[in-house]
Amino acid sequence: ITHPVTPGLDPDVADNFAFAFDIDGVLVRGGEVIPEAVEAMKVLNGENEYGVRVPYIFLTNGGGKFETERCIDLSRQLEIDVSPGQFICGHTPMRELADRYHGSVLVIGGEGEKCRQVAESYGFRDVITPGDIIKANSATAPFRKLTEQEYANSRDLLAEGLKSLSDVVIEAVFVFADSRDWAGDLQIILDVAMSKGGRLETRSETFDEGPPIYFSHNDVVWSAAHEHVRLGMGALRRIVEVVFSEVTGGKKLETHAFGKPQVGTFEFATRLLQQWRAEQHGLEESAPPDTVYFVGDTPESDVRGTNAMDAKAKNNWYSILVKTGVYQDGTEPAYKPRKTVPTVLEAVRHGIEREM
Ligand code: G3P
Ligand code: MG
Repeated sequence: ITHPVTPGLDPDVADNFAFAFDIDGVLVRGGEVIPEAVEAMKVLNGENEYGVRVPYIFLTNGGGKFETERCIDLSRQLEIDVSPGQFICGHTPMRELADRYHGSVLVIGGEGEKCRQVAESYGFRDVITPGDIIKANSATAPFRKLTEQEYANSRDLLAEGLKSLSDVVIEAVFVFADSRDWAGDLQIILDVAMSKGGRLETRSETFDEGPPIYFSHNDVVWSAAHEHVRLGMGALRRIVEVVFSEVTGGKKLETHAFGKPQVGTFEFATRLLQQWRAEQHGLEESAPPDTVYFVGDTPESDVRGTNAMDAKAKNNWYSILVKTGVYQDGTEPAYKPRKTVPTVLEAVRHGIEREM
């Protein structure tokens, strides 16, 4: 992907406002682009009655691929060049934790070896997956058989000089992307949560010494190809917490979530947007836009996070809810947007009209 590096100020750029977009249920659904999204991008890129170009970024809770790969997909779907400089997915902020955990971390979710590769690219030094654990002890998950390819791709921990799995201490658990094997992954996350300080194959007597567990987001449901919403990572998070309490005689497990609606994720987005406005449009990096329009489909993540950011940030964050995803027309959203519109195209037009 290439994008023009603009020396100096872009003459047609709107300097006082910007857009940020959720992806699933707003721009894409079940891998297919929502048609109005293509038109919305054209409007932002200057095809509007004012001839103005409006800076924008993407902020999805989804993940499971390198940011660069996801941008290639999005570029094809939206018929524009999307740069990693304007893209954040659920696990992107986990990158900042690679400095904190220098030993072994357990990475859950996604297809094949992809999330291990993404975690390693973030700087995590010793990434272990459920496949590695099952390869070393097939009794770990009784109903999960690794395919030949999974077996071949998984690390051979015992051949790496360890005498047994109990030589491995997990410092933190990261659920990068949706689990492809909820039962096996649930078992392994709980085993680690119930261990003596993260040491595999051990059991704590107090159940309060497991390592931290991070989920890349907290969406209980999301908008995919099916007419009704589908279960997401937030549902697995709830199950982990409830079952932990069940199997430990009532102990409480505190897990952590990144992604929207966490204000920290919106602050991360603010830094990215400011860099993007400077690099791409020649705007002053230290000066944020007066208003960021956030377009989303999930009241609990998108509207809640945008409104919380609006309350906290010095500039305005304006929530726009669309009807093409999780939110169903005619229902009362749990968090109230500033504006509700049918599709992302009306959202873009509304923001531009409000500004010009
Ligand atoms: O798994 C992805 C989903 O929960 C939400 O993605 O783009 O709507 O934030 P998005
Ligand atoms: Mg969404």
